[in-house]
Amino acid sequence: MNIGIDKIGFAAPDFVLDLADLAQARSADPNKFKIGLLQSEMAVAPVTQDIVTLGAQAAASILTEEDKATIDMVIVGTESSVDQSKAAAVAIHGLLGIQPFARSIEMKEACYGATAGLSLAKSHINQFPDSKVLVIASDIAKYGIASGGEPTQGAGAVAMLVTADPRIMVLNNDNVCQTRDIYDFWRPNYDKYPRVDGKFSTEQYTDCLTTTFDHYQAKTGQQLSDFAAMCLHIPFSKQGLKGLQAIAKDEETLTRLSDRFREAIVYNKVVGNIYTGSIFLSLLSLLENSRALKADDQVLFYSYGSGAVCEIFSGRLVEGYQEHLEMDRLDKLNQRTRLSMDQYEQIFFEEIELDETGTSADLPADQSPFALAKIQDHRRIYIKN
Ligand code: HMG
Repeated sequence: MNIGIDKIGFAAPDFVLDLADLAQARSADPNKFKIGLLQSEMAVAPVTQDIVTLGAQAAASILTEEDKATIDMVIVGTESSVDQSKAAAVAIHGLLGIQPFARSIEMKEACYGATAGLSLAKSHINQFPDSKVLVIASDIAKYGIASGGEPTQGAGAVAMLVTADPRIMVLNNDNVCQTRDIYDFWRPNYDKYPRVDGKFSTEQYTDCLTTTFDHYQAKTGQQLSDFAAMCLHIPFSKQGLKGLQAIAKDEETLTRLSDRFREAIVYNKVVGNIYTGSIFLSLLSLLENSRALKADDQVLFYSYGSGAVCEIFSGRLVEGYQEHLEMDRLDKLNQRTRLSMDQYEQIFFEEIELDETGTSADLPADQSPFALAKIQDHRRIYIKN
């Protein structure tokens, strides 16, 4: 049975910061971010946007009423949970009005969570071919003011509808994973921001890729040259490029895949790291910005989540996949509200204050499709605009 991605959508908050402004404010050379990290802008989420509102917005952009009546599983991959117990998928299920007889769960393993969700969705469809599974990758990446990771922040969500006979990409059955118990990037419950061993994390990203790719080749007999494009986890675009360079053995393949890679980072460069959604944002960018791809082309994926778990897998493009995309997405991203440094520091790091009953004041009005309106008795109250 062919199972895979039938629809894919994306949502980012309306605010954006130019990394040239960040560089100036932090007394860094702008080329360090633009050339050294290959990043130019980052999405900034206000206090009224979180993984629930962004995830719901991404999903609402692709779902029909018929989809909502058929979906029987909602999986949210995230590492920016708003609750240690209640899954964001439950709140999103409610906001979207998905039929009640569904399973809704959250999956966590740093930036790898949604990839695990995709595999679970595939297994579920294999068992129940008429089902549809909604897989959402939603995260907000915050490292803190003037921290090493600050230029690699971002916010956003990717939603994918996984079905039998998908219209965009069939997922192959060639997945190879690796688990390593390391501390390269982690988020203790008592810390506001992640802890990161920056250099070590970049080395682990690449070493997990090369060793897993060796294993993948031995297991499947597939070579890099068999693929038309590669999508990698993109914590910042240069990291993905270095990963591709680490496994491309011949010049022709490296040149061809580097061309596709440039198309696959158009959105990531202006959104930043969206953790578990980054690899799927890269897929969306590739599909919507490449004129070289065609039906039946194979795309290779490298998903990496710190801690660490990674996975290499692949997919095959379906005839007519171009008809199920949004070709003006970059124009829309270019219309986001540009923040000054002062506005960025105020908006991004604002915190909701609660009184002794766990209730906030009404939060500022937010015209996004979904927004957090307030916290009442420790419960998050969302609105649909
Ligand atoms: P840093 O110390 O600020 O920067 O940390 P740097 O000195 O390493 O410079 C970065 C690059 O810019 C270097 O290029 C410099 O040469 C270059 P490289 O040598 O690496 O190719 N550079 C310049 N280029 C042109 N003109 C200039 C200039 N100046 C310098 N003037 C670091 C960078 C990535 C470590 C930091 O931003 C960080 O800690 N980020 C967060 C961690 C991260 O993203 N790690 C990636 C791998 S781990 C991962 O992917 C998982 C993750 O997504 C989390 C999860 O799984 O949940 C993070």
